[in-house]
Amino acid sequence: MMEQQATVPPASGHAVPVRDDLAELIGYHSPQVDVEVRLNTNESPLPPPDEWLAELQKEIGRIEFHRYPDRGATALRAALAEFHGVDVNRVFCANGSNEVLQCLLLAYGGAGRTAALFEPTYALHRHIAALTATKVESGWRGADFRLDLDVVDRVLDSARPIITFVCSPNNPTGRAESPDTIRHVLARAPGLVVVDEAYGQFSPSSALDFVGGDVAGSDRLVVVRTFSKTWSMAACRLGYLVADPSVVRACDAVALPYHLDAMKQAAGYLALRHVHAMEARVAMLNEERGRITAALAELPVETWPSDANFILFRPITRTARQVWDDLLASSVLVRDCSTWPGLDECLRVTVGMPAENDRFLAALGSSLNERPSS
Ligand SMILES: Cc1ncc(COP(=O)(O)O)c(C=O)c1O
Repeated sequence: MMEQQATVPPASGHAVPVRDDLAELIGYHSPQVDVEVRLNTNESPLPPPDEWLAELQKEIGRIEFHRYPDRGATALRAALAEFHGVDVNRVFCANGSNEVLQCLLLAYGGAGRTAALFEPTYALHRHIAALTATKVESGWRGADFRLDLDVVDRVLDSARPIITFVCSPNNPTGRAESPDTIRHVLARAPGLVVVDEAYGQFSPSSALDFVGGDVAGSDRLVVVRTFSKTWSMAACRLGYLVADPSVVRACDAVALPYHLDAMKQAAGYLALRHVHAMEARVAMLNEERGRITAALAELPVETWPSDANFILFRPITRTARQVWDDLLASSVLVRDCSTWPGLDECLRVTVGMPAENDRFLAALGSSLNERPSS
């Protein structure tokens, strides 16, 4: 029997139809506005160290640009394996952690398979699942935006997902999950447990401690990390996972050949020579996070504790949109999350440099001192 074909319009002048299941899909965008203080996309406010840039420039001079890059990204993966104290066959790298997530969903998701996630969470988990025709089953987080284990059990038992996403610290709400929670999910989930630790270095604990260990289910644990945040390298688009070697082989199989260019590979392994500089940036940002949190406690806003480089808050006396507009008028850009699932009237601010945070707090203070809207 012939397979049914998608309907193709008969004549020119008609748009060729995209896949039926993607017809309504809108691409993921983070709106950018030209402002003086940009606190909307959780980037590092500081560039990488000058020494890294000098080393990278030298290394780029040595690249044979007429040749394809090292397909296995050997030096980069070896440096990451050493950094995390794991075997090199447990590391897979890609163009940003988003591409890591995409490879996981290409390899393990797809038609007839299900991924589980817990809202509100990082929108790309659901989005990339849709791109790969993977069904999504979701549950809500608790009032503190951490995983509610009763909800987790219910979703996992009914959906039997091939992938369970746990974002920790969770974007956009900020809290990290405890090691006990990760242990619980690993024991209960039937498939891979993908712990997205894009903000892992800001947090007191990491699921990396379980990789290769003897905790039940740890062979199904995948920890995803990025160079975009703590390493100050968002422009490079580099992310990776640490997992069982079988997961690395599966991702290698679905990644396009030579997907990691030679400059990116060099940028990554050279960055790992500057761990102390990265740690100093994280310490500064964590301190600033504490200062912003304390200042927010004095304002009419609801806030949630954060283990990341951003803070979620909900203005009480004015709408999120009014506050967002006021901040923008002061040339301060934060993320408006108020239309996201479960985040009514919420805004998210990325921790910036001390002077940027001062600008944000001053603008927020004057916005909230406006007369409340009737
Ligand atoms: C939770 C989470 N995971 C992954 C990513 C993607 O990061 P990358 O720049 O490595 O693709 C982000 C980016 O904001 C994020 O917040």
